[in-house]
Amino acid sequence: MNVFMTGGAGYIGGVTAEILLGSGHQVTVYDNLSRGHRAAIPSGAMFINGDIGDRTTLRDALSSADFDIVFHFASLIEAGESMEKPALYFRNNVSHSHNVIELASEVGCGRFVFSSTAAVYASSEQPLTEESPIDPANVYGETKLIVERMLTWYQRIHGLRFAALRYFNACGALPGRGEAHYPETHLIPRVLQVALGQRDHVNLYGTDYQTPDGTCIRDYVHVADLAEAHLLAATALEHNDTLLYNLGSGRGYSNQEIIEMAREVTSHDIPVDPVDRRHGDATRLVASYEKIQSELGWEPVHSQLHNILSTSWKWHSKQPHLYDDA
Ligand SMILES: NC(=O)c1ccc[n+]([C@@H]2O[C@H](COP(=O)([O-])OP(=O)(O)OC[C@H]3O[C@@H](n4cnc5c(N)ncnc54)[C@H](O)[C@@H]3O)[C@@H](O)[C@H]2O)c1
Repeated sequence: MNVFMTGGAGYIGGVTAEILLGSGHQVTVYDNLSRGHRAAIPSGAMFINGDIGDRTTLRDALSSADFDIVFHFASLIEAGESMEKPALYFRNNVSHSHNVIELASEVGCGRFVFSSTAAVYASSEQPLTEESPIDPANVYGETKLIVERMLTWYQRIHGLRFAALRYFNACGALPGRGEAHYPETHLIPRVLQVALGQRDHVNLYGTDYQTPDGTCIRDYVHVADLAEAHLLAATALEHNDTLLYNLGSGRGYSNQEIIEMAREVTSHDIPVDPVDRRHGDATRLVASYEKIQSELGWEPVHSQLHNILSTSWKWHSKQPHLYDDA
């Protein structure tokens, strides 16, 4: 496959690009490096430094080769920030994503894989299936839902085949590749930064949720498993118009449990500061991944919590400055 990848300088895009290249595919990364890193783009990929808001550069880039498929990772991803700056999120994640969809369709690239999120769902005590009630708790989740809807219309009207992959919490590392968001709001890297002495403590946002230990519960899925799902979805789009899948491990862990596992893996005391709830955090989001398991044979084989923490710890402890351009 010849893949056009937006956001390939980011965490999940960089890993997926490397795995695609290793499987013999070609990858062109299109990224404005606003939140990503030049060093995260694998050396075998072509790189175009561009913004998805810049229609001229984006059209030229999409027309520069005969691309089989678009993987659209580029996005702002911080739920908390999206509640403070909704306009920024609607512009970057909705309006600019529309450019990617429209122009991919215009140049005749017929397949599209979209990075959606568990944040589209209402919090639930039950494992979330693709049919579960939708009710984003934050603007970020809403932006992803709108893009899913746009894709549905482009499928109906222009025949664009698409897969919307709703990731739960991406995490874990591969040799030389790990999670490095700026700003970093994700729990696992923040906890590991405390273990490395880069932070004094980790904030625990809310200890009064309706969960056994009072902290939020999330489903953690290893980035290598996410990358594998992209390859499966891309192939399945040769014979399907629309695919919608959850990507999670099927197990929920509370924030407190993550901190405890991090203490075990790092052998460091990790001081915690319980603070108020963060605006826009759902109580519990845990996936059922039965649909992609039964239809495409996907399994979250790397997503045991101990493996997630130990691969992340290995990467974080070897990379005190993460990427050089950080
Ligand atoms: N990390 C997670 O836990 C998670 C969970 C669910 C969904 N997702 C989705 O997966 C995708 C990738 O997430 P990630 O963790 O790799 O994030 P990331 O921040 O590491 O990567 C996003 C990339 O998009 C680029 N980008 C942002 N706006 C752009 C623009 N206007 N033009 C060009 N490039 C732009 C950034 O520079 C960055 O390299 C996102 O769409 C995110 O919403 C992530």
